[in-house]
Amino acid sequence: MSIDTHPADAGPAQPLIEAALQAGKIIREHFQSDRVKVRDRKSQADYVTNVDLMVQEEICRMIKPVFPGVTIIAEENSAEETRRSEASQEMIILDPLDGTLNFMHGYDEVAISMGYWKNNRPVAGVVYNPIAEDLFYATTGQGAFRNGKSIRPSSNRTLGDCVLATGWPYDRSQYDRVFEVLSHFARACQEVRIAGSAALNICYVASGVFDANWEWDLQSWDMAGGAVIALEAGCALTSLDGKPFEIDGHELVVSNKYIHDDMIKNLENGGKRV
Ligand code: IPD
Ligand code: CA
Ligand code: CA
Repeated sequence: MSIDTHPADAGPAQPLIEAALQAGKIIREHFQSDRVKVRDRKSQADYVTNVDLMVQEEICRMIKPVFPGVTIIAEENSAEETRRSEASQEMIILDPLDGTLNFMHGYDEVAISMGYWKNNRPVAGVVYNPIAEDLFYATTGQGAFRNGKSIRPSSNRTLGDCVLATGWPYDRSQYDRVFEVLSHFARACQEVRIAGSAALNICYVASGVFDANWEWDLQSWDMAGGAVIALEAGCALTSLDGKPFEIDGHELVVSNKYIHDDMIKNLENGGKRV
């Protein structure tokens, strides 16, 4: 898929796009190679590799001079995270590699994600899969795009016509609840996809590939980029109980607007049919 068609000026998303395209080369060059090295294992399925760290360093190097005074919160940089409480209300939240487990296994469902938020309002978002060369981006007020083409969510109105997506929490004490909700939605919709990148799941809803995505136990960097893109594309985006989405809320439901109430009702009922 060509990515040459992105606009020459996508507003504040533009420098983030340039950084994602540049740092994405690191992911592409290491994909399915023996040069991927584990640097940390935070839980059974939560790893940090040398590629996570290299991508983060390259993106920070590129965007810091372009956004002076904007706090950069990056997943693999605890120093930046510590400074968060003192942070200005203007921040770029970076996940250098969303889908690290996929990447380690040579599965190409991976993305760089960046979300630029000011006073809890979305400014710009970029989510880029460098293996597929698939680029999603949005600047608030200027539209949401996939590889240069305007995107919008689907128009399906009943769950039975929908493909839904979700993810696995790293915290396995939450698996019972996952299975309960999943068991319901799997029966109610066409099928449920669990492909291992929260950022891409959100963008697939924004572009009408999936009809909705729900997930909890997420961090701000999993959601920050995709959330900007989904809002600008015209999606409904809330917490699992239908309250306003919060970047630090650790959960989301994103959907085409038509099935959002159904999603919330079913989630509120612990996944039981209502
Ligand atoms: C993870 C992925 C996964 C989601 C996890 C995330 P990471 O991000 O987005 O799909 O289920 O909750 O933490 O660790 O690969 O950046
Ligand atoms: Ca992530
Ligand atoms: Ca990550």
